[in-house]
Amino acid sequence: MKLAPSIYTADFARLGEQIREAEQAGVDWMHLDVMDGHFVPNITFGALVCAAVRRSTNLPCEAHLMVQDPDRFLADFQRAGMQRVIVHVEACPHLYATIQNIRKLGMQAGVALNPLTPLSAVEEALPLVDLVLVMTVEPGFGGQAYISHSTQRVQRMRAMLDRLGVSAELEVDGGISAETIRLVRDAGATIAVVGSAVYSPHHTVAEGVRRLREALAAQT
Ligand code: DX5
Ligand code: ZN
Repeated sequence: MKLAPSIYTADFARLGEQIREAEQAGVDWMHLDVMDGHFVPNITFGALVCAAVRRSTNLPCEAHLMVQDPDRFLADFQRAGMQRVIVHVEACPHLYATIQNIRKLGMQAGVALNPLTPLSAVEEALPLVDLVLVMTVEPGFGGQAYISHSTQRVQRMRAMLDRLGVSAELEVDGGISAETIRLVRDAGATIAVVGSAVYSPHHTVAEGVRRLREALAAQT
């Protein structure tokens, strides 16, 4: 399973260093949580910080846009060097056009669903995207508890992808820890976003990544 650390809970005063720590620990992607204070009740950062992250790592970067009307900003994220942009189906009334706009800019396209959005809302889009993100918390904040109902949503999304013959990545985001990561892996997720399980004042980045890898490797 691929790991995509979210810098949401990283130490922003030494962001470059924190990203290099994750890279050295052998993670697969960097996950950048962009929040606008409208789609979600919180503000984080925009394309400027994403560009700074991009400059500090060789890892591929994905921007998770928790913003209303993300089309306005897609070119900014392309200029910031993002390999993938993930938009929310709830924020995109013209999702087909948005996916095309992301592709025209040369980036991979992902679509995300909030915890109670019916999976059928993205069914038609699945053959058109590189990734589908099943949120396992309500978006807006790091460090929240995993919503247990999510496990069967991931299973049902896995079945939907397989039925359609779509090889898109199945990503999960929110509350993924050494305790929950096997649940989502066994349910069929292929990428886990990990925030506080990696970036926390209680342990180093290397320890956080090691615990997640050990949990995945455990036999029982
Ligand atoms: C939630 C964000 C997540 C979050 C992950 O709104 O999209 O990426 O920061 O953080 P943890 O892993 O701490 O739930
Ligand atoms: Zn995210």
